[in-house]
Amino acid sequence: MRLSVIGCGYLGAVHAAAMASLGHDVVGIDVDQQKVASLASGSAPFFEPRLSELLAEGLASGRLRFTSRMADAAGADVHFLAVGTPQAPGGHAADLRYVDAAIDLLLPHLRAGDVVAGKSTVPVGTAAGLAARIEGTRATLVWNPEFLREGWAVHDTLTPDRFVVGAEADAAGERAVGVLREVYTSAVAAGTPFLVTDLATAELVKGAANAFLATKISFINAMAEIAEASGADVALLADALGHDTRIGRRYLGAGIGFGGGCLPKDIRAFAARAEELGRGEAVGFLREVDTINLRRRDRAVQLVVDALGGLVFGRRIAVLGAAFKPFSDDIRDSPALDVAVRLRGLGADVVVTDPAAIDNAAAAHPQLGYARERDEALREADAVVIVTEWDEYRRDLSPEHAGALVRGRIIVDGRNCLDSAAWRAAGWQYHGMGRR
Ligand code: UDX
Repeated sequence: MRLSVIGCGYLGAVHAAAMASLGHDVVGIDVDQQKVASLASGSAPFFEPRLSELLAEGLASGRLRFTSRMADAAGADVHFLAVGTPQAPGGHAADLRYVDAAIDLLLPHLRAGDVVAGKSTVPVGTAAGLAARIEGTRATLVWNPEFLREGWAVHDTLTPDRFVVGAEADAAGERAVGVLREVYTSAVAAGTPFLVTDLATAELVKGAANAFLATKISFINAMAEIAEASGADVALLADALGHDTRIGRRYLGAGIGFGGGCLPKDIRAFAARAEELGRGEAVGFLREVDTINLRRRDRAVQLVVDALGGLVFGRRIAVLGAAFKPFSDDIRDSPALDVAVRLRGLGADVVVTDPAAIDNAAAAHPQLGYARERDEALREADAVVIVTEWDEYRRDLSPEHAGALVRGRIIVDGRNCLDSAAWRAAGWQYHGMGRR
């Protein structure tokens, strides 16, 4: 099938490359000419495992190309909308200017029977408005939210847990749903659930899924606070809770909390939309979820300060991690960088290292010290804080090796990802988040 993917960020670039790998003929469109040039030359403009291989294959096969001309979308059977919906400046609502601009530019190129498939995360009600705007072209709008995780984006796009497609309950809507089923035919044939809903429900599924995940993380982080006050251990608690099949262990990782380009802004936009609908009280708990989350960053900073005797001024602190999570170079609302920035604000001599996100971090926070090599960051450190659980720190760093490099054997494990007993046995003062 012929597909266009409008917006080639973390979501769109992966979607375009993944669809080409399924045999579709795909054009990826983005207004950012630098991004287009990078993708067209086969180089991913951000770190995402397996994306480079997929780009190379797609470009070589001739089934994948990138452009900044919206006119090149003309003739595609399906136009996927994958532009960003960031937090609006000065508020909590989603900023829909990129969605609106994409539709404006696409409108003149739509033909009767084309399907416009929204993938961007939008406030419920947006799709109905967009459907009305394209009505005159006799193209059909469906909503097909994307649930991919950065770092697993290729995997999640090609083998998602489910497909959700929202459409109007009329003949055009039914036909458009059939077209989407055809796009994803291999995964559907392999048994991936394909759920058909109305437009509003499809939009809501995405917001609700992110709200649930954020709530689950903040729940366990709230338990970490109780564990800290009562001498319990939140990691053992999470294991015990996780064995309950009704609860499950995933997203019960206590630590410095969630960040990134999705969960924080999505729960805020979700609550802002609920307010607009006059149902703010229904999701009032999301404010608390946000507050608990941000409080864990304060807690990590406090652990470092306390471990260093109450004063970090002039002390050298190795910060292991900058990305908001491993296998990503994304630093948007990164709890890891936030901890580093706060320690720097207290006068510490902070040295940040990260296998993928140093360039992004240095551009955003030039006031921090950086080291490309992990061991360079550890050298002469008075304390070490691990804030992104990359394998390089979690699995590959032995307490003995680190101990030979640092000045002070103090480690704050902001992700509860280390074997505390092994670090203590090697003479380290170990501090976890909500752990004994
Ligand atoms: C998330 C959703 O998972 C995905 O479905 C949606 O499409 C986009 O938002 P992503 O932002 O890539 O994906 O990251 P995710 O892996 O969900 O992690 C989000 C944040 O939560 C990270 O900062 C991570 O470190 C943190 N996290 C995750 C925890 O603190 N504890 C956990 O147990 C799990």
